[in-house]
Amino acid sequence: MCSTLVDVNPLSETGVRIAGERDARAIRTIRNRAIDQTTAIWTSRTQTITEARAWLAEHLARQSMYVAEIDGQVVAFACWGPWHQKEGYRPTVENSVYVLDVYQGRGIGRRLMTSLIPAARDAGAHTIVANIEAANHSSLALHKSLGYATIGTLPQVGTKFGRWLDLTIMHLAL
Ligand SMILES: CC(C)(COP(=O)(O)OP(=O)(O)OC[C@H]1O[C@@H](n2cnc3c(N)ncnc32)[C@H](O)[C@@H]1OP(=O)(O)O)[C@@H](O)C(=O)NCCC(=O)NCCS
Repeated sequence: MCSTLVDVNPLSETGVRIAGERDARAIRTIRNRAIDQTTAIWTSRTQTITEARAWLAEHLARQSMYVAEIDGQVVAFACWGPWHQKEGYRPTVENSVYVLDVYQGRGIGRRLMTSLIPAARDAGAHTIVANIEAANHSSLALHKSLGYATIGTLPQVGTKFGRWLDLTIMHLAL
């Protein structure tokens, strides 16, 4: 796939572009770090490189994965995919966004999402859902600042690191 630079600020070294096959290792590193260190992903099982490549391939096929680079290094990604497998849910997609810990709070998550949201709409999505661990204040604030509405919180629907997790559902109409 051809990678197109879609949002480069000439005053900074950060660029957002659609992902390519070559990004599999970097995306896997970012995702596995979030699995190991956070309750953003509700599993403790990290992705193998084979799983990471297969997962990325699904995104490349629908052009639903974006990455942010600083000085040529991929430091963050955002993607959208089906919310549910049944065909009746097809107009609704779910997004994810992950920034390497040392690069958080610099506007990278916002820049990724401002590329991703119109891309999902252009691909035919009617609604984007974000499922966010209820204590993940940075993600809740990011999505709120992008116009997502909070639908509600499901109490104690998961566990990780030996504690109950609540799930807040946010929603953006496209
Ligand atoms: C959540 C996450 C993607 C946000 O990305 P980021 O690059 O750190 O966020 P940004 O710097 O782009 O901030 C965008 C907005 O989010 C909000 N925000 C981000 N971090 C925040 C924090 N720690 N506290 C409060 N608000 C915060 C602010 O509203 C900010 O708007 P501003 O620029 O007007 O201040 C990032 O912190 C991350 O990857 N966290 C770990 C993985 C994760 O939780 N992913 C989301 C799973 S649902």
